[in-house]
Amino acid sequence: ETPLRVALLGCGVVGASVARLLVEGRDDFAARIGRPLDVVGVAVRRLGRDRRDTGLPDELFTTDAEELVTRADIVVEVIGGIEPARSLILRAFEHGASVVTANKALLAEDGPRLYEAARAHGVDLYYEASVAGAIPLLRPLRESLAGDDVRTVLGIVNGTTNYVLDKMDSTGQGFAEAVEQAQALGYAEADPTADVEGFDAAAKAAILASLAFHSRVTAPDVYREGISEVTASDVRAAAEMDCVVKLLAICERQQREDGGQGISVRVHPAMIPRSHPLASVREAFNAVFVEAEAAGELMFYGPGAGGDPTASAVLGDVVAVARHRVGGGLGPAESAYADLPVLPMGQT
Ligand code: HSE
Repeated sequence: ETPLRVALLGCGVVGASVARLLVEGRDDFAARIGRPLDVVGVAVRRLGRDRRDTGLPDELFTTDAEELVTRADIVVEVIGGIEPARSLILRAFEHGASVVTANKALLAEDGPRLYEAARAHGVDLYYEASVAGAIPLLRPLRESLAGDDVRTVLGIVNGTTNYVLDKMDSTGQGFAEAVEQAQALGYAEADPTADVEGFDAAAKAAILASLAFHSRVTAPDVYREGISEVTASDVRAAAEMDCVVKLLAICERQQREDGGQGISVRVHPAMIPRSHPLASVREAFNAVFVEAEAAGELMFYGPGAGGDPTASAVLGDVVAVARHRVGGGLGPAESAYADLPVLPMGQT
């Protein structure tokens, strides 16, 4: 069968994991999709680095991302940032490719336009990895809860700040010291502004609110306050009241004074009781509560960042997009349930 051509834009922590898992899982992907996936190229900023961890041959690496997107069926964008990611995605659509992206900043700024461009070209745009890493959250909001009315989405969607606040709470460290430790462990970036000032969480909150409330919410619409002003004594004072400080993203429907419906979307540090489930979210994990009219309260929890966890969400999207291309549906495994292999059962 003709393979589907996959182009990777970016080969940082997430990109390298995506590449490696695509190579290792080649046979499984082929079985789940009905056609193999071929990585036809990886666009990087600079050649010459050792990329053996991806399992891909050197000749697949290129600095010409513009050319690469013209010869792919599926483009995976894990460069991040607004440009050149946006131009490359639009170019991919023009050449008939579907796109899987983890780019929350771009979606929160220009999601609707990208969506319209994808629709105009009859291709898909999937972005599960853009919010809360490995946690399946966007598809449940967009699909599983499409028949319900979401009232609130509330949670911890930034792993770096959660790590910093958790360290401040457990060790008594100040903000700067905890950030340094987060940097040393690879959680926080060299310039931690996007995380600690809440920009990353605000972009994620905008995406969550857009999906939850079927409305257009962009990052500047989100009230944002980061954690750089949180001091060791704030955290100690919270502890004395049996509380912890967490950076929360809060999206909720609100009754406006004129009787109409509005929404409020905000990101800010908050004190929560130690007995609250969100208080037990440690280190760089994420957790999100969703409250819907009919469903009631749902909780999503798991790794919100990191190479393999984020790659898991990216690859789920790649399979969804590929299945759509191949059969317009769920793929061979689901559509031919009776043909599934029988695996040996363990003893209980
Ligand atoms: N910087 C982000 C975080 C990475 O710390 O959560 C995942 O989006």
